[in-house]
Amino acid sequence: MSDLSSNARKQKCLIEAVDVDKSYATPREIIHVLIQTRLQVLSGEVLGIVGASGVGKSTLLHVMGGLDKPITGSVLFQGKDIYKQSNSYLENFRNGHIGFVFQFFNLLPDFTALENAMLPALIRNQGNRFAKEKAEHLLCEVGMKDRMHHKPSELSGGESQRVALARGLVNQPDLLFADEPTGNLDHHASDQLIELIRKLNREFNQTFVVVTHSQRVAEQLDRVVELVDGKISAVRQNLVI
Ligand SMILES: Nc1ncnc2c1ncn2[C@@H]1O[C@H](COP(=O)(O)OP(=O)(O)OP(=O)(O)O)[C@@H](O)[C@H]1O
Ligand SMILES: [Mg+2]
Repeated sequence: MSDLSSNARKQKCLIEAVDVDKSYATPREIIHVLIQTRLQVLSGEVLGIVGASGVGKSTLLHVMGGLDKPITGSVLFQGKDIYKQSNSYLENFRNGHIGFVFQFFNLLPDFTALENAMLPALIRNQGNRFAKEKAEHLLCEVGMKDRMHHKPSELSGGESQRVALARGLVNQPDLLFADEPTGNLDHHASDQLIELIRKLNREFNQTFVVVTHSQRVAEQLDRVVELVDGKISAVRQNLVI
């Protein structure tokens, strides 16, 4: 019975890109990155996005995460087009419903790992004490207990990546977009991080979208789609969901 209800929950679409076009104008040319791109993310799944370098994976994540408006097309979150709502809706969507682990971490250099991880909770007015407890807990979960008071310049690439993951999770988002979260990790650390993602998915039905170049990581996710020539082309189902 509980299996049935959890399967039913998992089938629901949480966020969807519908016919999204995105291009960049450079002085020499217009680069068409996303072309009528469609992607559905189901509630409760851990979805992988793979594709060649430069194909537009980060761009797609930024568009779906409310950070970069598409030229045409829409992003529907719980059925609402996020780019057609008020600024305060979009702000609340970004801060409250979505977490981001950026490809190049985007940690603030003057703040410690702990302060960086607390920041989204402070922006949401969660209070210093709550933000600190939550951030400390998550930093312990990602194996950063002994590096909390280091600044980003005093962290390795993999450590910075783990701080970025803790920061992305601190507001308990419905959906975490993680752009190459294991890019700087060795196999062991990568497996541990994916196991943490799987644990959060199991325990809290937390939805994840993970961009990865790693076949090893892709095999540990529920479903994998590939971005080719601006479109989602191949789909592989690893688990029955
Ligand atoms: N601000 C920008 N201005 C112009 N071109 C851009 C801009 N941002 C990205 N691009 C181009 O758009 C394309 C898609 O970039 P994107 O970062 O989404 O690729 P990606 O699939 O994430 O690549 P990688 O796997 O290397 O991270 C690339 O060709 C890139 O050069
Ligand atoms: Mg990228």
